[in-house]
Amino acid sequence: MAERPYIVGNWKMNGTRAMLSEARAIDRAAQRYMKVEVAVAPPYTLIHAVHREAEQIGVGAQDCHPGAEGAHTGDISASMIADAGAKFVILGHSERRQDHGETGELINAKIESALESGLRVILCCGETLDTRDAGKAESYVLKQIEIALPLFEDPGERLTIAYEPIWAIGTGRTATTDDIASMHGAIRELLVKTYGEEASAQVRILYGGSVKPDNAREILATPEVGGALVGGASLSAESFLGIVVGAS
Ligand code: G3P
Repeated sequence: MAERPYIVGNWKMNGTRAMLSEARAIDRAAQRYMKVEVAVAPPYTLIHAVHREAEQIGVGAQDCHPGAEGAHTGDISASMIADAGAKFVILGHSERRQDHGETGELINAKIESALESGLRVILCCGETLDTRDAGKAESYVLKQIEIALPLFEDPGERLTIAYEPIWAIGTGRTATTDDIASMHGAIRELLVKTYGEEASAQVRILYGGSVKPDNAREILATPEVGGALVGGASLSAESFLGIVVGAS
């Protein structure tokens, strides 16, 4: 398994240039926690500015268009994201699957474009409460991942999985550590079955869904949790770094 825990802040649709001071504070502090890989995914409008400020933290995007270029008004391609300084892209976030009707096939097209542009991919997955209550969470989540795995011949660090139960996102309610361990264990099993023990070892499985400074250490100590994808708590350097400390 990749040695360093990966803590990623997903700023979502939040952030004007005033957020650059938070980015600077996170970057400075991250230099004291070299055992943790820290990154942020600001809105497109701030990627280049945060990249220019960042010496230690990684910078990424929250989505990309599947095409390389052309008549797609308002869209942003993977190569444009890379050109702005991003090193990774979050794809398949439940908010995009819900708000934009993103399918596995569309997400795969985005993955291919991201890999061609040299971007690492954080592939999101997660179930609704109804799916969990119906006892179908594991099969549902593994299906979301399985469709994408053939695109990564030897995943290495190009692929990171983020398990984010939809009912835990923004609700203040996290999954129990037993549920997290069970789902992450099933995802790890799928990765080993697909790529073999060694090749899959570099793929980290992040947990996302109401991760905060006061629950981070317990969640990050859960088996097969290789880091966290953090929403609300990543918007302030203080709370985001409280999670980084929990990983260190
Ligand atoms: O992508 C991370 C996000 O969905 C989690 O949000 O606010 O529950 O940490 P939050």
